[in-house]
Amino acid sequence: MASLRFTAAGSKILGSSSVHLGDSSHDANKLSFKTGINSTTNPSMKDSVVTRVATRSPPVFMPSPKIKTDHESKLAAWKSIQQERWEGDLVVEGEIPIWLKGTYIRNGPGLWHIGDYNFRHLFDGYSTLVGLHFQKGRLRAAHRQLESDAYKAAKKNKKLCYREFSEAPRTENFLSYVGELANLFSGASLTDNANTGVVRLGDGRVVCLTETIKGSIQINPDTLETIGKFEYTDSWGGLIHSAHPIVTESEFLTLLPDLIKPGYVVVRMEPGTNERKVVGRVNCRGGPSPGWVHSFPITEHYIIVPEMPLRYCAQNLLRAEPTPLYKFEWHPSSKAFMHVMCKATGNIVASVEVPLYVTFHFINAYEEKDDEGRVTAVIADCCEHNANTSILDMLRLQHLRSYKGDHDVLPDARVGRFTIPLDGSPMGKLEAALDPNQHGRGIDMCSINPAYLGKKYRYAYACGAQRPCNFPNTLTKIDLAEKTAKNWFSEGAVPSEPFFVARPGATEEDDGVVISMISDKNGEGYALLLDGSTFKEIARAKFPYGLPYGLHGCWIPKE
Ligand SMILES: [Fe+2]
Repeated sequence: MASLRFTAAGSKILGSSSVHLGDSSHDANKLSFKTGINSTTNPSMKDSVVTRVATRSPPVFMPSPKIKTDHESKLAAWKSIQQERWEGDLVVEGEIPIWLKGTYIRNGPGLWHIGDYNFRHLFDGYSTLVGLHFQKGRLRAAHRQLESDAYKAAKKNKKLCYREFSEAPRTENFLSYVGELANLFSGASLTDNANTGVVRLGDGRVVCLTETIKGSIQINPDTLETIGKFEYTDSWGGLIHSAHPIVTESEFLTLLPDLIKPGYVVVRMEPGTNERKVVGRVNCRGGPSPGWVHSFPITEHYIIVPEMPLRYCAQNLLRAEPTPLYKFEWHPSSKAFMHVMCKATGNIVASVEVPLYVTFHFINAYEEKDDEGRVTAVIADCCEHNANTSILDMLRLQHLRSYKGDHDVLPDARVGRFTIPLDGSPMGKLEAALDPNQHGRGIDMCSINPAYLGKKYRYAYACGAQRPCNFPNTLTKIDLAEKTAKNWFSEGAVPSEPFFVARPGATEEDDGVVISMISDKNGEGYALLLDGSTFKEIARAKFPYGLPYGLHGCWIPKE
């Protein structure tokens, strides 16, 4: 029981459809979709509650922790969320700045099984939203499952009903296989499990996203309640888009990969509308299909379209069983390219070959100018995995859960800096922006001060590594001018994306706070605030129980 002592009074289980434990007597980490079970009647859930906050409210009943074996860590990061919903005040150690007013919402896969069936890959899990509401130095937290069709169908039918990242529904006979193929081509069988990111549009609407276009789901940022599908009203159709659009107060830009005629359509949507309008199109220079575009960067005047040799694979999309690279294939002979599109005209102003690379997350990009103010090149930075695709397989849950902490398996990564000349040169450069040892040769899950989007910038925040490890286990602040990094580390802990929030009125780029959520080695977890400048801890607040790892978040300021 020791690992589950903390909960916040002032907290509550909401609604009647909470996810409950299955046979918790032998596996407390297994949630099932059985509904209507009163958790208070489950004898294994008693005596695990301790009041931590003074306000009176019904207590939360926690499931019993699974008995730990020698080979299993207590880390909650890779275990399914313990219940469907929770909210409550957290006790804060340290001091939350009074100016920090608003909500950080983080999305991520947080439920990796249906009944006794366990998913295999980190990216398969059903979306769990976590909200941190900051006001007057206090912190109220909540989590809630996103009510996607995929999640609701799994809950109702107690089986997988849609194609997730590495999972596909089982077909019972040839006819159902044919039907499944038809559903795949129409997009009907693709998941809408929007478990990757969450963005605040310029009009205030908050939308959860993943790689499938149908996985665009609007939520209420105050309650985390699912409002419904975000329906695009244009006729662009398509099945997939970049999971990371560029979103500002004035626009939403994203890429639609064209799997039939390999290329990308760049589209733009204005606040207050659901209509994407085409900016331009890039044809791929390699083949047989477009490179995976999980994210892309922009500058003030240009949209940068990456063409990575890790390419979408239609055959792998059709397969029921996971392949080594899932829905992708590595085509080094197809080469790697970076394309630069003018935002105003949609014209391609540069298209250069670059060294082979693998990245999921671009950090930022900007224009380099000569003494007379003419743009000579575009600089684009990303978390680059040394052209090694093995990171995808490292994210299998079996790998993550079985790690004992005694050997180093995380592949090296660096801040990859592309230099894309605009003078017609055919080749671009890719180099490390700083010595990767500064951040332990691991880097991913990045953020910057949003005021510097598309502009020359100095600081990036990301997850780095302290070896040995099997997953990024530090928070790192990269100084691209000094080429140094400051690192935060807690042994055995797994931090999620460090998200920078600027202090209103700040004039320095790093004047603000960095928010992250930590899974601790003892099975617990906490929200962490670091000073954006010193990168020292200023506050932490323990969650009632350890939360699953999460991916990307957004900030909803409160006026
Ligand atoms: Fe991502």
